[in-house]
Amino acid sequence: MSHKILILSGDGIGPEIMAEAEKALSMLIQEFGLRVEIEHGLVGGAALDATGGPLPETTLALARSADAVLFGAIGGPQWDTAPRELRPERGLLGLRSGMGVFANLRPVQIFPELVSASALKPEVVSGLDILIVRELTGGIYFGQPRELTRGADGRRFGVNTLRYNEDEIRRIARVAFAAARGRGRRLCSVDKANVLETSELWRQVVVETAAEFPEVQLEHMYVDNAAMQLVRSPKQFDVMVTDNMFGDILSDLASMLSGSIGMLPSASLDERRRGLYEPIHGSAPDIAGRGVANPLATVLSLALLLRHSLGEQVCAVFLEQAVRAALQQGLRTADIHSPGTTCVGTGAMGDAVVAALRRAAAA
Ligand code: IPM
Ligand code: MG
Repeated sequence: MSHKILILSGDGIGPEIMAEAEKALSMLIQEFGLRVEIEHGLVGGAALDATGGPLPETTLALARSADAVLFGAIGGPQWDTAPRELRPERGLLGLRSGMGVFANLRPVQIFPELVSASALKPEVVSGLDILIVRELTGGIYFGQPRELTRGADGRRFGVNTLRYNEDEIRRIARVAFAAARGRGRRLCSVDKANVLETSELWRQVVVETAAEFPEVQLEHMYVDNAAMQLVRSPKQFDVMVTDNMFGDILSDLASMLSGSIGMLPSASLDERRRGLYEPIHGSAPDIAGRGVANPLATVLSLALLLRHSLGEQVCAVFLEQAVRAALQQGLRTADIHSPGTTCVGTGAMGDAVVAALRRAAAA
């Protein structure tokens, strides 16, 4: 059966890193018998410039009819002054909500080769393997009312609404419990139940859902403490589940444990495991176009896509092993470079992954 993939490169370093993932994808098609139909679309600032909006209807329609979407990055200073509803970020948020991908999986693992690239001591991070499950289509990112306006007294004010209903919490809790059941069987639910009503509900529903997963050990943690614990002793965590905004913040924080935000992929799934796959880093306008960005988070996002949405486990494993092989050869992009390793650009890193795939196919 042939699968349909939509590729959205976006802005900034997006096109550069996506080119490397596409090289790897071509190799999987040529040498490993992977069958996919590939389409391309516009999103973010690139779409805004070309069509007047950050998420053209054609892009959303293609995304909805694809089995999976591979996404690069969006945004850049040239669009920061556009009206808020036209900003590139709205394109990404519209895509997430339009595809209904409420479950964002952000694995934080550290390659043994990169232990020294972490900001933390080797003994604190080596062997680290955490999965952050972030609710992605609700909470304060989407709650109504929202506005930035002027009051009757002439003063400006801003409003956002943090709102969750129990169904939204239950479905993300189930995804997290099921993920925990398949790995270390420990789930930490992160909230701010000492202050927020939404968090109080979050906790109630997570506790109720726990009854469906008796083999998983559940604990609760306030988000401020969770941030501290992630830096103090991150290996205490197996799976963490949290709301949209807490998950946004904690996943950036956790990315640094792995050495570089340039290494971390993510998967966002709907009920049927169709998904949107993106590196967790942004469009890095400061280094865009220079050929120095790390393409590995995008390549690893492609591996997640193959595994979770296409069911192509073998290709996923070969691709992940190819990334590992490139690191074992001592190749590093600038963000993960350390003394004794070879600093390479985006294209050379992608070529090394492709070469490792070719060797694996020949073996
Ligand atoms: C992320 C990003 C996005 C988010 C931005 C670009 C809208 O930070 O995927 O973590 O806040 O969700
Ligand atoms: Mg973020």
